[in-house]
Amino acid sequence: MGNLLATAANVALNPTLLAVCERRQPQSFSRRSIAKVVFEELARVQAMRSPLDPVSIRLLPSSLLAEAGIKDTVFMDAVSRIEGRYQMRFRDEWLLDMQTCEDLIACIADHMFDTVDRSEQPIPPPPREGHRVAALAELDSDPANTDAFPECLALEERLQGLAEAGLVNPFLRANQRVHNRTAEINGREVVSFTSFDYLGLAGHPDVTRAAKAAIDRFGCSASASRMVGGNNTILDRLDIELARFLRTERAVVFPCGYGTNASIFNHLFGTGDLILYDELAHNSIMHGAGASKAGKRSFRHNDYDQLDALLRDLRSSYRRVVIAIEGVYSMDGDYPDLPKFMAVKKKHRALLYVDEAHSLGTMGPEGRGICDFFDVDPAEGDLWMGTISKALGAGGGYLAGRERLIRYLGYTTPAFVFSTACSPPNAAAALEGLRVIEREPWRVTRLQENSELFLKLAADSDLNTGSSVDTPVIPVIVGSSTRAIHVSQQLLEQGINAQPILYPAVRETAARVRFFLTSEHTEEQIVHAVSAVADVLSRC
Ligand SMILES: Cc1ncc(COP(=O)(O)O)c(C=O)c1O
Repeated sequence: MGNLLATAANVALNPTLLAVCERRQPQSFSRRSIAKVVFEELARVQAMRSPLDPVSIRLLPSSLLAEAGIKDTVFMDAVSRIEGRYQMRFRDEWLLDMQTCEDLIACIADHMFDTVDRSEQPIPPPPREGHRVAALAELDSDPANTDAFPECLALEERLQGLAEAGLVNPFLRANQRVHNRTAEINGREVVSFTSFDYLGLAGHPDVTRAAKAAIDRFGCSASASRMVGGNNTILDRLDIELARFLRTERAVVFPCGYGTNASIFNHLFGTGDLILYDELAHNSIMHGAGASKAGKRSFRHNDYDQLDALLRDLRSSYRRVVIAIEGVYSMDGDYPDLPKFMAVKKKHRALLYVDEAHSLGTMGPEGRGICDFFDVDPAEGDLWMGTISKALGAGGGYLAGRERLIRYLGYTTPAFVFSTACSPPNAAAALEGLRVIEREPWRVTRLQENSELFLKLAADSDLNTGSSVDTPVIPVIVGSSTRAIHVSQQLLEQGINAQPILYPAVRETAARVRFFLTSEHTEEQIVHAVSAVADVLSRC
């Protein structure tokens, strides 16, 4: 963990932070209970980040964090959660060179509480020498036998568990055909609520026609990075029209949304900088932040007050600080109070990075995104990231913002420079998609009406839709993973495709079936879906 935190060591010199690190309430904590909290939080965060790859071994004090698959970002998130639980804050230099769970436990015991029960037999630290080998042996007797990788075995067990419980694997269901909002699965037509094609553009005749024409003219692939031969007139036009649509000075299209997030943080922020991200930020943001040498901290979901407090303590110790949030969160269907985040960013001279993957096309009267929704000027923010893979019905990512910065990023970001450009049919589809949104504004209106209708009917039926509001992402929280799989399966039998979201992706009691609304759903389909969920839930 050392590299990750190396830049933040100077935070320890900050007197405000030192004050925060004082123990707030004298309490007695046993080493064993600290260990329990550490294991719990590491496993929980890992599970949230990688639902199908949870910590697959029992964590022990001697477990090497890296060998247990706990990445830097997971580690830092767990640290943030531990801080929350104990109402304390770690000094960054304490976190340097942590390798095992015991290092973290000892750090808490040594630094965080005056009254830690030191009389208790300490958990013996593993012998330093050879402990890497011992940990490997604990994980896997033959480290080169991929069939015996504990993470692979854990997945096999989970899948087998489903089968043994008589449940059908709800993942990787293959569509045989998609038409508007119906799909064919296993030879049967179903109404689908699993697609990000919010505005029905993926199969729109003008969009598919544009994609086909691009294939005829340019072929299926850009065949090179945009920098070195893969650029074309469609991509150039898409950059220009995206910037115009988003009301930013400039935009640049990347090959993939995930790669844009995964590449940009490392590229623009490094030693001496700080990345602050919402705890529910998308995996690609976490991955990108993890790759950077900047310090990093998460803040509670949508909590701009906590962010403000963090910045009060930390800002003066860093050069650049970036706050990463999303326009719409795709697990809960809620969104940030953008003006409040902008105020915090301004107050602390930080940059605001907003991932609009799920807000582009869905939010605001014209579907221009979260700025359109709040009627704020995008020039007030700094970096607007998004994908053309969702509401625009194509595949790829983009960055938008001020002229000079976006030009720089479009010449230098590794995911742009070293990756084959977004394919001609994808670029052409997105370009036509933008034009359709403006030509057919009823799509955005219909999407918002459909979402509102679903939410209202769900409320009338006493379904628990959590914090979802004003967005086309609507979870129905059903209270347990088994129940979520069961409900999803029953719905499929009734011709409705909606995905279950299970522990550990969410808390077990928050397991849910998630619905993505589109402008293509009919009132009848929505009424039928909500009453089917209510009916299934009343029987299980
Ligand atoms: C919030 C968010 N950001 C980024 C991405 C990645 O975008 P893409 O699918 O275009 O790679 C996703 C994908 O689901 C997402 O939900």
